[in-house]
Amino acid sequence: MATQTAGPVHVAAPTRSARPTEFTQSEPIVQVRDLNVHYGAFHAVAGVSFDVPKNSITALIGPSGCGKSTVLRSINRMNDLIPNCRVDGQILYHQVDVNARKVDPVEVRRRVGMVFQKPNPFPKSIRDNILWGAKINGFKGNADELVERSLRQAALWDEVKDKLKENGLALSGGQQQRLCIARTIAINPDVILMDEPASALDPISTLKIEDLMRELERQYTIIIVTHNMQQAARVSDQTVFFSLNEKRQGVLIEASPTAELFTHPRDQRTEDYITGRFG
Ligand SMILES: Nc1ncnc2c1ncn2[C@@H]1O[C@H](COP(=O)(O)OP(=O)(O)O)[C@@H](O)[C@H]1O
Ligand SMILES: [Mg+2]
Repeated sequence: MATQTAGPVHVAAPTRSARPTEFTQSEPIVQVRDLNVHYGAFHAVAGVSFDVPKNSITALIGPSGCGKSTVLRSINRMNDLIPNCRVDGQILYHQVDVNARKVDPVEVRRRVGMVFQKPNPFPKSIRDNILWGAKINGFKGNADELVERSLRQAALWDEVKDKLKENGLALSGGQQQRLCIARTIAINPDVILMDEPASALDPISTLKIEDLMRELERQYTIIIVTHNMQQAARVSDQTVFFSLNEKRQGVLIEASPTAELFTHPRDQRTEDYITGRFG
């Protein structure tokens, strides 16, 4: 146990209730087992293991360069697209190893969607932004209904319902990010990965994205990378803290229910980070 010296001074927002019973009883939807990632000869992430409970928000936090994005990209095989990147260990999604030979990475990315730091709508209409990926993935239902449902779920419908034919790039940054979330939802994933989804947005848009995440958690499982500890404290159920070891490899220090991690960190390094003494 870390000694309780200074409080978590940098975390002004109250943490969410830990919901310990629901949280610990929820089955894991993603299990990361002894994940090691190399970029060429560089060992970027070493021996990372944690579970992601279903219908929860897990925040990955830690100093820059400690491997948060690398870990996130391993979960839906986005690292396959980076030359020289080698992923070892297991990522179990519904108990299936996503790297198994019989598994199609395109199917993994459909079921485990991703939202990036910089909003990146297609240079197409708002409507086509929603429909394009869905159609590629075989959607043959009612297009109007899918557009409305996805935009409603992403809390964007009221703002765009009268301009569905306008270019997605004409929206504000915060709206573009919600459009990207709507586009991801339209493909019907059950896990959504978000890599610093609000870091390019103003504070009001950031809060909207955070509110949206809490709505989406009822139906989806969300894993978010954030460099903002207050954000992790505000939105997540579980927080996973990463740091660099003496060999400059990204390692997991502690994975705990968020309320616990920010009030009673189990590791001195977590405490140093959340109290602002390091990082
Ligand atoms: N495509 C890449 N090629 C080579 N090295 C990379 C690449 N992406 C990330 N790295 C390195 O891997 C380490 C972890 O990076 P990253 O996962 O982006 O960290 P974080 O998201 O925590 O800031 C860093 O040292 C970074 O420079
Ligand atoms: Mg990153």
